[in-house]
Amino acid sequence: MANIRVVATEPFEGQKPGTSGLRKRVTVFQQPRYLENFVQSVFDSLEGFAGATLVVGGDGRFHNREAVQTILKMAAANGFGRILVGRGGLLSTPAASCVIRGRRAYGGIILSASHNPGGPEGDFGIKYNIGNGGPAPERVTDAVFARTQSIREYRTLDAPDLDLERLGTQRFGGAEVEVIDPVADYRDLMARLFDFAAIRAAFAGGLRLRYDAMHAVTGPYAKAIVEDELGAPAGTVVNGTPLPDFGGHHPDPNLVHAKALFDEMMGPDAPDLGAASDGDGDRNLIIGRGVFVTPSDSLAILAANMHLAPGYRGGPKGIARSMPTSRAADQVAERLGVPCYETPTGWKFFGTLLDAGLATICGEESAGTGSDHVREKDGLWAVLLWLNILAARRQPVLGIVREHWRAHGRNHYARHDYEEVDAEAANGLMSALRGQLGALPGRRFGVHEVTTADDFAYTDPVDGSVSERQGVRIGFADGSRVVYRLSGTGTAGATLRVYIERFEPDPDRQGEDTQTALAGLAAVADELAGIRARTGRAEPDVVT
Ligand code: G6P
Ligand code: ZN
Repeated sequence: MANIRVVATEPFEGQKPGTSGLRKRVTVFQQPRYLENFVQSVFDSLEGFAGATLVVGGDGRFHNREAVQTILKMAAANGFGRILVGRGGLLSTPAASCVIRGRRAYGGIILSASHNPGGPEGDFGIKYNIGNGGPAPERVTDAVFARTQSIREYRTLDAPDLDLERLGTQRFGGAEVEVIDPVADYRDLMARLFDFAAIRAAFAGGLRLRYDAMHAVTGPYAKAIVEDELGAPAGTVVNGTPLPDFGGHHPDPNLVHAKALFDEMMGPDAPDLGAASDGDGDRNLIIGRGVFVTPSDSLAILAANMHLAPGYRGGPKGIARSMPTSRAADQVAERLGVPCYETPTGWKFFGTLLDAGLATICGEESAGTGSDHVREKDGLWAVLLWLNILAARRQPVLGIVREHWRAHGRNHYARHDYEEVDAEAANGLMSALRGQLGALPGRRFGVHEVTTADDFAYTDPVDGSVSERQGVRIGFADGSRVVYRLSGTGTAGATLRVYIERFEPDPDRQGEDTQTALAGLAAVADELAGIRARTGRAEPDVVT
């Protein structure tokens, strides 16, 4: 067909998708043919999409626009019939999932490096999502990786760049491209799930929210929904304009990078709820007045209260959490008499459970929470569910959290990250741990006696696929737990994550400071794995 150009290429090393797609420095993606090779490898691994619809969008970070243009041309040249792209090339990750599902697309390409810094020296990323709106499962990403190693040519369209600002449909080679409002479909979905009238009334009655969009993609979504639709006062959303370098900040909604929000929430004039989202809008940070709610606790509290939102009246059918996430959600599932699934780290593992209707809500310690409304975690959705619960219960966040602990027990929880560790040292630490698993049960470390030790392996209950070596779990006699794994999302060296958890059933002791409550166990975690000795690190870089 006219305008289609077949370009010769050669494989690049290392185009292996990690926990969430292919993530590399911007400079790596700027190499000629690098992005093209990966995109063509994705298309070459798919079947039966001739004439079908593809969704394309990203978090607006540096290189987003250029990459979107490249992908539009390649998608048209490879035979997609219709391509939906967010205005300006923008789509948050959950909104992309919503559009793929709502418009029955074949799949979608999302451009993001999530919470990693942006800008010319920052990171960029790309991932493919399948027709259910969720990240491609491993058999697809494995096929894509295999293809990147043998690719010889890619197909593209010889055409000028498309006008990404003009809403509506334009002809593009043999395809049609529709530039869509990135917010509209998503806003409609949220309006169906939540009691917007009750939240609107709560705002009118003085409920105060501070939403930090971190100059990332959720700014336009939060302004349209929280300020325009729900009537929160202008200025509720701060850092609401997406910037290619996120204003020089690190769009990771944690206590380090959202410190200004944290300080405001601990201050004398704190609003009722403080929230933030990451680069591509799938993560969330929840802080009540005077209380940080850990992602693990937030999952449990949302699961226990979600029946208060119209979209979830019957409560959850099941709850799913990633293995390192605290077991607070398990206690809720037990009370509700529904199953709780433990999956490997990575949102893609929730997809089959959600599709099969086994789980309604899922979450991860890494600040991801979501439900069966889309197939990605969803930062703004979590904030809206919290708002719905606050509007219904008319209680401060702190009161809700304390009541929850009293009823279910508290899981003191912290994650210690050792970043950019020498990869060999990190792998050595993990294999030494794996080597001693059999010998650990029965061993004592001070007052802590090891009762179980294994390397987490998961068999998907729906499709039977098996994922091995997903992290070392050490269980202690008092129900405490330490988990070790290497991050699958870093772009430099290795990141060792150590997850430490202790259950506290006694309401009188639930108010104890988390770091104090976990100090003994943290020392055991170090001793057991030889963290200091093997990595040379005396302290974790980040504690969350
Ligand atoms: C991404 C994934 C999550 C995962 C998180 C941390 O956000 O979508 O599913 O929990 O990264 O992964 P990591 O491998 O770095 O611990
Ligand atoms: Zn993200």
